[in-house]
Amino acid sequence: MTELPFSPACERNKQPIVEVLERLLKPEARVLEVGAGTGQHAVHFTTLMPGLDWLVTDVPDKLDGLAARITFEAPDRLSPPVALDVARGLWPDGPFDAVYTANTLHIMPFELAPALFAGASQVLGRDGVLICYGPFMDDGMHTADSNREFDASLRARDPSMGIRDTRDLDRLAADCGLTRQADLTLPANNRILVFRRIE
Ligand SMILES: C[S@@+](CC[C@H](N)C(=O)[O-])C[C@H]1O[C@@H](n2cnc3c(N)ncnc32)[C@H](O)[C@@H]1O
Repeated sequence: MTELPFSPACERNKQPIVEVLERLLKPEARVLEVGAGTGQHAVHFTTLMPGLDWLVTDVPDKLDGLAARITFEAPDRLSPPVALDVARGLWPDGPFDAVYTANTLHIMPFELAPALFAGASQVLGRDGVLICYGPFMDDGMHTADSNREFDASLRARDPSMGIRDTRDLDRLAADCGLTRQADLTLPANNRILVFRRIE
């Protein structure tokens, strides 16, 4: 049996996040999750919002763990996970009402961020939204000491990782015809950024 992957951070942040999603998404929204990791978010969100059509994706080496979690915890609500490596550019067919991605932008190299925004923009429906959860900085400034320390630890581990700046993300979004519509504060100095198509 594949051991279920587990993230303590997911256990802490899944409830605050779903309380935002309940406001942002219609109950039966079709959602594509990029970089689903352990699958804890998808299971929790679809438990509380059972009408969601939520497609879980991640890079190929994460799929066994994701599949195991879905099989054991939500086989009736979630389809088997699908491979999506932002670097490879093969996205599932849209349209989606939302693309959701949590704690991925500071993990993947910033060179991949344009592909994330472009891919999301392509698969979103007309009124679709790109929802990004995680820590972010603004105009070169961290919003908290804990984020500054986290950023330093990421960069020490791998120089291609690091907390991203909303200024850069807004520019990438604009290149794809998206604009930041909301910037919501969540616990532990995390945020949800919501990007929507420019009318
Ligand atoms: C810190 S984990 C976050 C997982 C989960 N979303 C969460 O909030 O706990 C970062 C995730 O980004 C994914 N990731 C990294 N590079 C990626 C890429 N090129 N394409 C898609 N996902 C990627 C990793 O596989 C991993 O699941």
